Amino acid sequence: MLTRRSRRKYLDKEVTEDLVEKLIDAAKAAPSSKDCQPWHFVAVRSGKQKGEIAALKEDENRFLRDAPLLIVVCVDTTKSQTRWVEDGAIAAHNIALAANALGLGAVWITGWCGWGRSSSPGEEGLRKLLALPENIRPVCIVALGWPDPSEKVEEKILRPTSEILHNEGW
Ligand SMILES: Cc1cc2nc3c(=O)[nH]c(=O)nc-3n(C[C@H](O)[C@H](O)[C@H](O)COP(=O)(O)O)c2cc1C
Repeated sequence: MLTRRSRRKYLDKEVTEDLVEKLIDAAKAAPSSKDCQPWHFVAVRSGKQKGEIAALKEDENRFLRDAPLLIVVCVDTTKSQTRWVEDGAIAAHNIALAANALGLGAVWITGWCGWGRSSSPGEEGLRKLLALPENIRPVCIVALGWPDPSEKVEEKILRPTSEILHNEGW
């Protein structure tokens, strides 16, 4: 957890099926509201699909196109009606942590699901592209690959615990 960083530049090297299985094992081990385990994951490897997904983002994230693998983290809202965002987020983060443990690089790409019950243009596009059923909401995309060592990862200064930990109240 302490060594995980977002990685956005990847080597031209496949993320094998057995690694994807491991990532999904980690994702589905996440806690969920009432243990509803509402997740579905869409793995996208095709260059055409990745390009079309990248084009849906206003800022056209290059790494959505370049990453060897995208995992679209989705939640079945018939299983998780009011906690689907949290349920999706925690599974996505398990994927990112597992990726780091396996030596892979990952980054969370947001902006797919509209707030609350309404959807967004990005979500509608993604829904069409991936043929998502009505009850399935995409929460985020985790882009994954073998991290390119040439990527410059900015140093990250963590906030001091004394500033954010409040004992027995604020
Ligand atoms: C909810 C959430 C949404 C994010 N959305 C994006 C995104 O759309 N594009 C992107 O490049 N990074 C995205 N990130 C990654 C953050 O930019 C990154 O976590 C942050 O800069 C801290 O860097 P670190 O992950 O290396 O610690 C997102 C992260 C989170 C938690």
